[in-house]
Amino acid sequence: MATDETPIEEVLVSEREHWQDGPPFELFARMRRECPVHWTSKITELPEEDGFWSVTTADDVHEVSHDWRTWSSELGGFTAVKNGILPLELQRAMFIGMDPPKHDRLKALFQRGFTPKRIAEHEDRIRAITCEVLDRLEGHERCDLVTDVAQPVVARVIGSFMGIPPEDDKMWADLMNAALGAADPDLNPAGLDAVMTEIVPQVFASCQKLIDERRENPTDDLTSVLVHAEIDGQMLEDHEIVMGFFLLMAAGNDSTKATYCSGMRALLEDDEQRRLVLDDPSLIPDAVEESLRMFPAFAHFGRTATKDTELHGQEIKAGEKVVMWYPSSNRDETRYDDPDVFDLRRKAEHQAFGAGGRHFCLGTALARLELRILIEETLTRYPQMRIADEPRYVESAFANQLKTLPVKLRP
Ligand code: HEM
Repeated sequence: MATDETPIEEVLVSEREHWQDGPPFELFARMRRECPVHWTSKITELPEEDGFWSVTTADDVHEVSHDWRTWSSELGGFTAVKNGILPLELQRAMFIGMDPPKHDRLKALFQRGFTPKRIAEHEDRIRAITCEVLDRLEGHERCDLVTDVAQPVVARVIGSFMGIPPEDDKMWADLMNAALGAADPDLNPAGLDAVMTEIVPQVFASCQKLIDERRENPTDDLTSVLVHAEIDGQMLEDHEIVMGFFLLMAAGNDSTKATYCSGMRALLEDDEQRRLVLDDPSLIPDAVEESLRMFPAFAHFGRTATKDTELHGQEIKAGEKVVMWYPSSNRDETRYDDPDVFDLRRKAEHQAFGAGGRHFCLGTALARLELRILIEETLTRYPQMRIADEPRYVESAFANQLKTLPVKLRP
């Protein structure tokens, strides 16, 4: 186990030991102080993988995000792991794992539907989904906000965008949880190898029927957009359609759920902050932004250097990987006073959706709308809600989220 005395150059930041109870915020603070661009020499569980450079400050995350020519998403995959969990070929089939120009052309097909204006048209429907899920809690004393509230709401919202039937929401949510929380023994009991032996084959099999149906009868959902997408006169190949579907489903399911639960936990643990939003619900969007800053749903994304270069004075060789840690950059003390304190009044910018650039999150408007409605409806119905038991984190250096958040509804 690495301790405060472990020399910083020996620290292996992505090891399991650091992620049992959420991100290692103290370790990140030390890295920002002592070694802001830091080399992790190996990932013990995946011995075939190379090491990577950690990027820990907000300015450096900004720099990497904005320079896709130097920092490729395609060359070595888009997380800390190049090949060991999801093979590079499948990562490159999603636009998050592509570089321009193909990335831009594919993303553009979706962007029109994801502007704040277009997303706002979904408000009534998302509120109805949220209320329907909260109605199921009537008569109960307790519930788990992760599984009983967040999961069914976000699964139905993204499910409706993708055109999947409601009865399949749970199956897809379980698959996405297992894929994104692949290292967590509860979400993915079969272990890391199961991503390729079980989860991905099931995603392909379950998706094929949807693809065949859309080929036959085009619809106005996002699966149909993928099936009929034409990039430079070429249709997407089947594995690109499936992985495009997978990207949208995974991003839509997990991250919004994660932020709602972490944000609710922060409000439930802090009487003063909770009182602020109860007294003035127009502050809920500020609580959403502070939740995004404090608890970014994805702990990292990665890039690979296309040439020998330098970052923050550190030489980086062509082919080496950099990993941007948002739980670190969002608490960078050069940008935020008391960065570890949840204070919705700070109205601060953050990098939870990325720091801008080509891969900036497609779903920001949708996520913000869902989060606002979820928090509004939860607090309106249950202003007295309290945490019932210690929440538990997903064990993962990628999916920064709680797997349980038991609450008493009306204590
Ligand atoms: C709180 C919720 C969310 C968070 C924290 C989040 C965060 C992120 C981050 C950090 C990235 C990568 C940015 C980069 O590499 O520069 C990203 C990309 C993406 N997100 Fe989100 N996301 C959220 C919700 C959503 C939702 C609801 C969707 C709906 C479809 C979505 C779709 C995507 C897609 C498609 C990409 C890839 C964009 C690209 O490569 O150009 N996200 N998101």
